[in-house]
Amino acid sequence: MIFTIAIDGPAAAGKGTIARAVAAHFGFAHLDTGLLYRAVGRHLLNGEDPVAAARALDPAELDEGALRTPEVAQAASQVAVLPEVRAALVDFQRGFARREGGAVLDGRDIGTVICPAAEAKLFVTASAEVRAQRRFRELAEKGLEVDYDTVLADVRARDARDMSRAEAPLVAAGDATVVDTSEMAIADAVAAAIAAVEARR
Ligand code: CDP
Repeated sequence: MIFTIAIDGPAAAGKGTIARAVAAHFGFAHLDTGLLYRAVGRHLLNGEDPVAAARALDPAELDEGALRTPEVAQAASQVAVLPEVRAALVDFQRGFARREGGAVLDGRDIGTVICPAAEAKLFVTASAEVRAQRRFRELAEKGLEVDYDTVLADVRARDARDMSRAEAPLVAAGDATVVDTSEMAIADAVAAAIAAVEARR
């Protein structure tokens, strides 16, 4: 059985949480594609060439803990504008999407560029303030020193870069179900996502 669920949306909209819950519900594999760009961003911060890093990236080595920092997020969105970086990551993502047993991929361009023929597509969004509040709490819980206004500015800068880039900009696919989680509890957002996927099964 091959079935791809594409989940896109802006920074800190809750894509990851929803993608993990949807994957667990259907028994599908899950790929957080943001980690690929974060890993390349990490190489940029180390002074390495991002294109070479993307071409040599071993997805088995993605260390989520080390990559979920605001500094790496900004570097990720900088390398994500480079067409050669994006091109180097396409085959791995498409292979994952069509694996036997079903797959959930979350990112920015899954429903538009990576898997335009995905069986189900969701676009998860929320207001910038709500997203910044959630990310602020998440980072504070990890013990990172952050303040809300800086997190909000980071989220806005990243959204602007992700939406305005020429290559694979962040935009909802025409056939995606939009889930606005601004005023939704996580359980309700997950239930809405599962219902949208069920409707395509
Ligand atoms: O978790 P959060 O939403 O904050 O970010 P992420 O999904 O880990 O993505 C980090 C950055 O990688 C984004 O701001 C994008 O610039 C880039 N990205 C992308 O261009 N395409 C994807 N499919 C996934 C991430």
